[in-house]
Amino acid sequence: MEVATLRLIAVEEALKLVKDGMLIGLGSGSTIRLFIERLAEKVKREGLEVYFVSTSYDTSFLAGKLGLIERPLLDERPDVSFDGADAVFPERWVIKGAGGALFREKIVDYYSKEYIIIVDEGKLAGRQKVQVVPVEVHPLAVHQVIEELKSFRGVAATTLRLAEKGKLGPVVSDNGNFLIDVSFQEISDPESLEKELMTLPGVVANGIFAIKKPSKIYIGTSSGVKVIS
Ligand code: A5P
Repeated sequence: MEVATLRLIAVEEALKLVKDGMLIGLGSGSTIRLFIERLAEKVKREGLEVYFVSTSYDTSFLAGKLGLIERPLLDERPDVSFDGADAVFPERWVIKGAGGALFREKIVDYYSKEYIIIVDEGKLAGRQKVQVVPVEVHPLAVHQVIEELKSFRGVAATTLRLAEKGKLGPVVSDNGNFLIDVSFQEISDPESLEKELMTLPGVVANGIFAIKKPSKIYIGTSSGVKVIS
């Protein structure tokens, strides 16, 4: 089955969790764009009243265009959030941030009553040893953080993410920060690493989502949707 189909079957399954009156957190990325399209259809079809909290301009633009109603602040906990991931581990933790939305994704996912990760089976990790963890850094500190990370436990390489088109120089996040992609040799203790990365002044977020694990991970596979909970 094609990746798009695998994502779609997982999206359709996760969508069943959406109920009338909910405040929903919406992650970012191509899988969540698919989720947003299906959510907008469901809301219209079933006449639901739902609101969303966004994790990126990309998500706000798409969801807004499709008629979904955004709430700007987390003045209450979302009932449930839906998000994608770059790598999923069997112990129910994930790496996120390839789309650069990790800062707001971590806030929204963490403060939700539950958060759901939706992926295709190509995201299952464990076999490849090196894991790339995005780290969002305030520009003032970026060179010093890179230097510190070079001697960080388990770090194999650090790469400042550069814009590929439309802009010269580094990628600038929705929050005005830079992104460093940090390659780690096998991550054995994700909770500790998630905490340790935050001890470097200038780091505002990292892509390890392990301290608060996803409530459930919906995985689209060629033999149907598998759920890790
Ligand atoms: C955005 O910063 C990321 O965390 C995405 O959620 C993650 O990269 C998954 O994106 P795709 O669904 O596009 O693979």
